[in-house]
Amino acid sequence: MIIAIDGPAAAGKGTLSRRIAAEYGFHHLDTGLTYRATAKALLDAGLPLDNEPVAEKMALEVELAGLDREVLSAHDIGEAASKIAVMPSVRGALVEAQRAFATRKPGAVLDGRDIGTVVCPDAPVKLYVTASPEVRARRRFDEMVGNGVPADYLAVLADIRKRDERDMGRSDSPLRPAEDAHLLDTSEMSIEAAFLAAKVLIDAAL
Ligand code: C5P
Repeated sequence: MIIAIDGPAAAGKGTLSRRIAAEYGFHHLDTGLTYRATAKALLDAGLPLDNEPVAEKMALEVELAGLDREVLSAHDIGEAASKIAVMPSVRGALVEAQRAFATRKPGAVLDGRDIGTVVCPDAPVKLYVTASPEVRARRRFDEMVGNGVPADYLAVLADIRKRDERDMGRSDSPLRPAEDAHLLDTSEMSIEAAFLAAKVLIDAAL
């Protein structure tokens, strides 16, 4: 069983994916972390973000087992990740590892930007989780303030819009809903309500 969950930054994909994986006892891969780990390896080594062969080499070395959102959450890592994510050979290396993960038994939940369209186009359940940029910026802002990180709402909103533009505008695997994806707009929906909607779809596919 493969569950593909896509959508823009801060739409609630991560929380929803973890909730689904826990409910069904499935493995979970946050594919954004694979791009972040590649970006962090480049930044740590002082290597440029615009050299595709070098970035591909780093992507090939990413270990799925060692990915930790806490270590990879920094803002500059997210920015760098979305820059190297436009490179086809970086995507090729990471997608191969993601596809191998998707075959894990008894099932796998993968979340990202291109799971339903490119990584697992045959996934029996595809969700596209979205929310307005303002709602996503508010959530990100509240989370930062909750963690004691100084934040400016308008700067967070500008950032979300910039990230959307880059993710939706790139030519290789742009962020968009698969034709057969179910849309879940969480602007006015709690994560629990989104989970219940997802559960109905998953139970029907099991
Ligand atoms: O989801 P997260 O914000 O951690 O992802 C960081 C960046 O990695 C995204 O902005 C996007 O550019 C890239 N990404 C991607 N494809 C995925 C997951 C993430 O291009 N499947």
